[in-house]
Amino acid sequence: MTRRGIAAFGLALLLAACAQINPPSIAPVAVVPPPRPTPSFSLVPWPAHLETRPGYFVVGEGTAIQYDRGDAASGRVATYLADLVRRSRHLSLAPSGKVGGHAILLRRLSDPDATGKEGYRLDVTPDGITISAGQTAGLFYGAITLWQLMTQRTGDAHSITLPGLAIDDAPRLAWRGLLLDSVRHYQSPVFIKTLIDAMAREKLNVLQWHLTDDQGWRLEIRRYPRLTQVGAWRVPAGAAAQTDIDPKTGKPRLYGGFYTQKQVREIVTYAAARNITIVPEIEMPGHAAAAIVAYPWLASVPNPPKQVSSDWGVFPDIYNVDERTFRFLQDVLTETMALFPGAYIHVGGDEAAKDQWKANPAIQQKIHEIGLKDEDALQSWFIARMGQFLKAHHRKLIGWDEILQGGIPPDATITSWRGISGAITAAKAGHDTVLSPAPVLYFDNRQAEGPGEPSGRAQIETLGDVYAFDPTPPALTDDQRKHVIGVQANVWTEHIREQDNVDYALFPRAAALAELGWSPAAHHDWADFRARMPDELDRYTALALPHAQHLLAIGEHDAPPPTRPLTRDSHELDLCKKAIALSIEGPAPLEGKPPVFLTDVLNPCWIWHKVDLTGVTSITALAGQLPFNFQIGHDVEKVVMRPIATPDGEFEAHLDGCDGPKLAVLPMPHPGPGTGLSEVRGAFAPQTGVHDLCFVFTRAKLDPYWSLHTVTLVPEH
Ligand code: ACM
Repeated sequence: MTRRGIAAFGLALLLAACAQINPPSIAPVAVVPPPRPTPSFSLVPWPAHLETRPGYFVVGEGTAIQYDRGDAASGRVATYLADLVRRSRHLSLAPSGKVGGHAILLRRLSDPDATGKEGYRLDVTPDGITISAGQTAGLFYGAITLWQLMTQRTGDAHSITLPGLAIDDAPRLAWRGLLLDSVRHYQSPVFIKTLIDAMAREKLNVLQWHLTDDQGWRLEIRRYPRLTQVGAWRVPAGAAAQTDIDPKTGKPRLYGGFYTQKQVREIVTYAAARNITIVPEIEMPGHAAAAIVAYPWLASVPNPPKQVSSDWGVFPDIYNVDERTFRFLQDVLTETMALFPGAYIHVGGDEAAKDQWKANPAIQQKIHEIGLKDEDALQSWFIARMGQFLKAHHRKLIGWDEILQGGIPPDATITSWRGISGAITAAKAGHDTVLSPAPVLYFDNRQAEGPGEPSGRAQIETLGDVYAFDPTPPALTDDQRKHVIGVQANVWTEHIREQDNVDYALFPRAAALAELGWSPAAHHDWADFRARMPDELDRYTALALPHAQHLLAIGEHDAPPPTRPLTRDSHELDLCKKAIALSIEGPAPLEGKPPVFLTDVLNPCWIWHKVDLTGVTSITALAGQLPFNFQIGHDVEKVVMRPIATPDGEFEAHLDGCDGPKLAVLPMPHPGPGTGLSEVRGAFAPQTGVHDLCFVFTRAKLDPYWSLHTVTLVPEH
């Protein structure tokens, strides 16, 4: 019987909640009370308290979801629950403003503090199901929990039998966040709303929306229209984009987009109805190149860039500290605050290179006049000024941990991303902090090895790695720990062009994050969490949410074994070094799925360990030319360049290490735009026995550079 088949048998589902338990093969059930004393529930995140009770209640077609007619917010929760159940169980429940009888009841408690801001109580008894909460967020989360109880297995059942139980639930941490980078790649408003729904189902409640950066400005600001007219558009990197001419302009087609204020208002309202606060991120003083392209008077140099760049990395461009620039930023924040009603405004503050400040006499003069020590202190002064402005408008400033350099700005909340040391410094100084450390909570890192995974950073951070993150830094006292207000995972999108792949990067890891933020530490249990995952993945499938599916099947870390004995995808080879290791999409084709390469930006070089070379007489390499669109400062001097012998460089196979004898040297063809892949085949110096092979390309220029996609050893026929 397939899992789907099992889904038809309402009761059996419930009892077989854990993946490891084989569902009993019983006949389709009318309705029988659950015989087991402690059924498992695939609730994610796990609730604070759950007790089973005697009896059961059957939810069937037409069961009412009752709410107080005068309470429109409860009515919306009822409709939301009915919609989820319809979509995932194909069962129609009936929202109703009439209270009474055997039904699901949403009960708002008269004391708004009775269950805290987000807490609720859920009772399943033979007489009915009651969700009680003092506030709408609690009713909403109670409804989500009830929906999860009704989707222990998805599918079509005419009724769902729920065992008696009492859940008393409230979150461990107040800030349970995700960051979406809509700059490096743009996502549609529809995608963002769908993501908000998916977050809400995990009881996540903050979406930090990364809206401005070097590669684009994505938020309409009416007072400064060039921010989006100019700053939202760029020519993608790579040869294919250069040949993709826009007939309207006769120039390469531009990539980009922005969110109008109307769209933003809709998204913010949509999120609020799902208990999600959107925290807008307006980067300063660095990550400012797109704004500077739009308004060059914001720059700290006389000749700022004239076009939005498609490079990744840390740019030198930084806002100057003229009064006009502060007025600009305050105007931008004024429009931003009008759109985003939440308490927090994120001002970035990360990775601000200070070279331009150092080289600018007017800025040096300003440092001197204010009596500051150096450029770090200037950044602190800059951020503190923005903090005062936000405070005067009853908002709170939050920034990345670099804003601690040069002195912590008053009242600032810190997002700790360079590990958790920023959080420890902030909490010890009495500042609130959100834990968002790289690499483990950076969901642009891949979650499994092997070919077939979408592109991302090459580092692996599995579901289990995320689950193992401890949100209670041992270096803090209990009192200091109260300043750790939450956890957040970030999905940066330099290497995630497709929207589906953003979802794939997020799910199911967002479920692990949600459990860190919501569930009591005492219930932290990987085996138990993992056992609840198959149902959670089924819910994703039922609601058409793209997600990583195979992770539970192939174990925590392993790539599937290669199936082709003498062929390796780059993802099945080892990188010689992992300095800037990426699993990166090729620049062509522009439409559809481009090939994905595992490579290292500083040293594109691969090892095939322990391969039997006996009988191999030729070798085939499939390779693509990737744009070198990385701003990596002085690290560019570390890029390994091997001298060429032919115009487009050669593919080389070396024996037993990259300085070993060359077994094959194949001149690369001049690449065409086409699929982005070029193939070469040639002689391979015969060897016997098992060896390591090293593969490299020679190159004359930094940009573009060859990257290996697939290599095949061909035995003599
Ligand atoms: C960051 O990853 N630069 C916050």
